[in-house]
Amino acid sequence: MTDQASQSRKILVTSALPYANGSIHLGHLLEYIQTDIWVRFQKARGHQCTYVCADDAHGTAIMLRAEKEGLTPEQQIANVKAEHEADFAAFQVNFDNFHSTHSEENRELSEEIYKACRDKGHISVRKIKQLFDPVKELFLADRYVKGQCPKCNAEDQYGDNCESCGATYTPAELIKPFSTISGATPVEKESEHYFFKLPDFQEFLQDWTRSGTLQEEVANKLAEWLESGLKEWDISRDAPYFGFEIPDAPGKYFYVWLDAPIGYMASFKNLCESEEGKARGLNFDEYWKPGAENETEVYHFIGKDIINFHALFWPAMLTAADYRTPTAVNAHGFVTVNGEKMSKSRGTFIKGRTFLNHLDPTYLRYYFAAKLSNKVDDFDLNLEDFVQRVNSDLVNKLVNIASRTGNFVFKAGGKLSSNCIEQEMVQHFIDQGDVIAELYENREFGKAM
Ligand code: 2FM
Ligand code: ZN
Repeated sequence: MTDQASQSRKILVTSALPYANGSIHLGHLLEYIQTDIWVRFQKARGHQCTYVCADDAHGTAIMLRAEKEGLTPEQQIANVKAEHEADFAAFQVNFDNFHSTHSEENRELSEEIYKACRDKGHISVRKIKQLFDPVKELFLADRYVKGQCPKCNAEDQYGDNCESCGATYTPAELIKPFSTISGATPVEKESEHYFFKLPDFQEFLQDWTRSGTLQEEVANKLAEWLESGLKEWDISRDAPYFGFEIPDAPGKYFYVWLDAPIGYMASFKNLCESEEGKARGLNFDEYWKPGAENETEVYHFIGKDIINFHALFWPAMLTAADYRTPTAVNAHGFVTVNGEKMSKSRGTFIKGRTFLNHLDPTYLRYYFAAKLSNKVDDFDLNLEDFVQRVNSDLVNKLVNIASRTGNFVFKAGGKLSSNCIEQEMVQHFIDQGDVIAELYENREFGKAM
């Protein structure tokens, strides 16, 4: 047995929180299955490993979706949570707790972390100008504004870049801009915003991102951003917004990305305070207070698109508020189907539910496991290769061996010999245990398979 296996570890693991306005698709599932495999491995080794997640329930998109469905945001997020939980269960993703960012635990923790940042001088307040929908009476994020490209005049382009000529610009530069929510022409309007002073953490982040917490390719990418200098991060949104109101700022809400990662802590806290958490002896402070990094481990599994939130803002906020930082952030690439981006029009944007309507979820789990590594490269779900691997590896090898040997044993009277004549071969097989465990530990599942 290796040292890691002989000593029981205390490990908290998270996967990124899915938005509460859409279904779980195969892109999501790569991450949940990757994490679930790692968690099962840790539990199988006898460690106290706790896997938490939650729905990411705040933001404009969720507010608008609820409105469209004729529901309150609370009803909307409750419906989606039930759907998400059923999908995860079907794919055998076994969370120890699945909570919501729209929870009391999360409100308290978000307020506490914000206040700590504010009291230490890491929050600044200033007015900024943004496009505003005069009909819906709300400020418009770039993706809610469309118009003609100011460079090439292409129609129907989003507020920040042109898909036709590649130009980048601000939404205010668009020709004939319109709000995609109401169709109205947006107007510029000023309002006060709250900013987290990320540049205060420049030096800390330079060290933290190089302290073995990140994959090398991720640390290299971040080094480029760090060199070009960090900017203050806008953490407030104006009403109407579905989220938590900022304590000292009526009508201002925490931007969804402020309270989303705090949702990891909130879900864990919710578990710690439940009967089950108490029975398991789980203690929130043991995992999150400063110094906890010497006793317990915290791992975030995420996609490469949200690295800046987890490897810059998140460790900076935690440090500012006197919490420990994660042991590691494990990023993976995107899922492509037959070598291309998943696409609704090509029919390759596949929901978990659709997959379940046709195929056994373990086929997908196996295919992901068989090809996953610890790199940030994209993962190609090649459908022909998928069929081939399931048929040859699972059906022809694994199941076939079981069924044949089962027959031999049955014919021999249902008993195994007490005499092992191939002792060396069996020993060789047993000896691979540590090698395979090491591969699992390092998220080299393809090699482990
Ligand atoms: O990108 C997303 O889908 C986000 N909902 C992930 C949030 S992860 C965490 F920080 F909460
Ligand atoms: Zn253009």
